Amino acid sequence: MSTMTINGRPAALPEDRDALLVDVIRDTLGLTGTKLVCGSGVCGACTVLLDGVPVVSCLLPAQAAGGKAVTTVEGIAAAGDLHPIQKAFMAHDALQCGFCTPGFVVEATAFHDRWRKANGTAAPSREEIAAALSGHLCRCGAYDGIFRAVTEACAGRFDGKEKDKHIASPRIEARDKVTGLAKFTVDIRHDGQLEGVILRSQVAHARITELDLASARAIPGVAAISLLGDDRMVRYVGEAIAAVAAKDRATALAAVAAIKLAIEGLPAVVGLDAARKADAPVVFKKSSRKKAGNVSEAAGAPAPWKGNIRGPSSAFSHKAKQARSLLDAARQKRDPLLVEGTFRSGTQQHACLEPHATVASFDGELLTLHVSTQAVSELKEMIAKRYKLDHDKVRVIADHVGGGFGSKGSLGVETIAAIELARAAKAPVRVAYDRHEELSVTGYRPASEVGIALLPSEQGALKALSLTAYGDTGAAINSGIAVLARLIYPAEAKQLSDYDVISNLPPGCAFRAPGGPPMAFALEQGIDEAALRLNVDPLQLRQRWDPNPSRQRLYQWASRLELWRNRKTGGRGSGRYRRGVGVAAGYWLYLWQPGAKVELMVKGGRLIASCATQDIGTGSRSVIANTVAREFGLEPHDVEVRIGDSNLPQGAPSTGSRTTASVVPPILLAVQELKKAIVRHSKAPPSPGSNAPWRELIAASPDLAASAVRPEDARPKPPEIRSPLKEAGLLGMIFGWMMRHFSHVVVGAGVPSSVQVIEVEVDTWLGHVRVLNVATGIAVGKIAAPVLARSQAAGAVIQGIGYALYEAREVDPRSGHVLTSGMEDYRIPGIADTPPIEVYFDEAGFDHVLGGSVGIGEVSTVPTSPAIANAVRNAIGIRLTEIPIRPDRLLAALKGRAAA
Ligand code: FES
Repeated sequence: MSTMTINGRPAALPEDRDALLVDVIRDTLGLTGTKLVCGSGVCGACTVLLDGVPVVSCLLPAQAAGGKAVTTVEGIAAAGDLHPIQKAFMAHDALQCGFCTPGFVVEATAFHDRWRKANGTAAPSREEIAAALSGHLCRCGAYDGIFRAVTEACAGRFDGKEKDKHIASPRIEARDKVTGLAKFTVDIRHDGQLEGVILRSQVAHARITELDLASARAIPGVAAISLLGDDRMVRYVGEAIAAVAAKDRATALAAVAAIKLAIEGLPAVVGLDAARKADAPVVFKKSSRKKAGNVSEAAGAPAPWKGNIRGPSSAFSHKAKQARSLLDAARQKRDPLLVEGTFRSGTQQHACLEPHATVASFDGELLTLHVSTQAVSELKEMIAKRYKLDHDKVRVIADHVGGGFGSKGSLGVETIAAIELARAAKAPVRVAYDRHEELSVTGYRPASEVGIALLPSEQGALKALSLTAYGDTGAAINSGIAVLARLIYPAEAKQLSDYDVISNLPPGCAFRAPGGPPMAFALEQGIDEAALRLNVDPLQLRQRWDPNPSRQRLYQWASRLELWRNRKTGGRGSGRYRRGVGVAAGYWLYLWQPGAKVELMVKGGRLIASCATQDIGTGSRSVIANTVAREFGLEPHDVEVRIGDSNLPQGAPSTGSRTTASVVPPILLAVQELKKAIVRHSKAPPSPGSNAPWRELIAASPDLAASAVRPEDARPKPPEIRSPLKEAGLLGMIFGWMMRHFSHVVVGAGVPSSVQVIEVEVDTWLGHVRVLNVATGIAVGKIAAPVLARSQAAGAVIQGIGYALYEAREVDPRSGHVLTSGMEDYRIPGIADTPPIEVYFDEAGFDHVLGGSVGIGEVSTVPTSPAIANAVRNAIGIRLTEIPIRPDRLLAALKGRAAA
């Protein structure tokens, strides 16, 4: 038997020549810091050092490591001292969810050591760092911090052991993430744990007429088979039919392949254009419409449903009839100010690096689940309800979550399968999706087609605005795109209509600011075009048409940027490379969770904060620690934060940018109570002149606890801070009531806002667009964790760059199979695509909220795609109306102009 050394210790290698090194490292040796993501050597998450050289262990046969030294992320820190790269990653917040971090750390360590040997403490350039790390992908977009961290480490700023203990990481769990100790759901291993695999439909529409499980059951090692779905119908390729639990994944896959299935194929229709045709096969008959998924995070507005088209949902229009007649009149008289266009956006996949995964285990009646989820509290409720279990018999745990972006907010098939298999097999079962499943059936931001008509008056006011949106929602409804234009740019009259176009594709689901980016891609280009027609500066036109006080301040900020002031204002430029600058605005709703509760304790002289929320990379732990620490005059690391467990006091889901606004106010109330209790029980006052009186009092305090529930916003608010739902009239108020009572979320007063200014360079020969500079201004009140908020804002921009330039799911229009189901086919931005990003926070506007903080995750991604498109228009004089702005589309547009 051959052996290798791993992190300095000998380890036996399997005889199996097909065994991959990553599986030996993770499954046999239990070194789960090394992550498995793409399985094709594209993302770098599984990188280890082989005799000091970085390799991707997902492609390397384990036998190839025979006689060699393997170093995983767990072995990078020598004798407990962190490597300078690890310290720099911590200090510069070069991570968010942390799932890609081990791979980056291993590769960056090797680069650092090579660089230092050759160049001493000279700092590498941005290009040199990008080239070294270009084999790694981060879906959270932590690249901005990674650039800073690698630069500073190579420059020697993190040398020396003494600095190790002084690393003040702004992210309190960062050490666990840079050393590989952080445990994600896919890393959980129980004794006797089985692997679950799901049998999925290979056809887009069929009725299952026969399901023979006998051969599958007969395979040695198969422990349980469960049927999924309840009507024997499949409506898309990838729909779950059954699930198998077996002693290992290979056996489970063999059993899935052995299930005999007879089907009656039914006519299918794939995609927006085909499904809208009058003779298109119908996906959901009236009796089965309840089976459609939900693209939104909330209940949608009611709408008629005919064939595959559900809509119009136009409840939030404002004088729709008047808008129609104003626009018709303008068309008839060929008003040169009338702006009209149709904008199309592609399907964006969440592409979380940690796949959807659940480990379920029963201990008698008690069901414990580790789930990669954005909502531990809500998931527990959903499971208790579905399986009719007492609430204290279900526990959902999510210590660390490798990204979600909206796709992990509900009860998924992987969780249902794991529960049912664990119950049937009487053993713990893990169901973890492979990359093909992750990029096919876990939801997506639907592609869209948005028609816009926008009419300014001769005096330059906004007379009429119409948006008609079609969402390519697959087997789901509630796309809600046009409706989001209700709360920006008040016009004399607005017609806003949303249609869901249902087809035999997997259901879409909520994706960071659902509906926001496609709405802004159309609307913000419409505003830009109107500015050109009116011969007005695009920022000034926004200042004129958009009275929102937060965005008014952001427009002021943007107008002072050199990036904006130095842009060219006329002509198309000349030469191969042309540069342009664009601007766009965005907003999101201020949401908070009623009932969210935080408990504070002094235990053994230590301060502990508990809440059943979770951290998906957004920094909930640090927000809680910072808020508590600030109130007590302590450091965030003095506070132990317990989250990610549904047994803790009910928290808020990490969806809709609601976490910060839900947890900060109850923390502040609980702090007041705890302080009173500490003083009441204190036996001696703190030392006179003490710098940290609370530290002393807490250290001497008996065990105490205080808790508080998220209060209503009762603080006086200035008149310019309006309730968006009140502004939307009676229907808005009804919608707000429905949101509170059915979706358990409150829409508060005030509107989180953002404005972005982006510079691009267009290669007019090859059709490439490169983003050169980004300035993003964000108004979300007081920033609870500034460095982490900056990371989120930059990450949101990077996801927006992907949406605008690279990302699009492709499907086979005949079969409904997703063609971009590997990371090598579905292109997300890499570090070399990341421009310098300036982040500006305007902290006013939410003083009526206790603590003054609201969420940042959604609003910061909304304006990126239109700002890029407007910059392209500024660079080459052509407006691109379809994203992603691929080279072929750009070249076709240039060719079209040349022909004209
Ligand atoms: Fe890189 Fe989340 S931090 S994927």
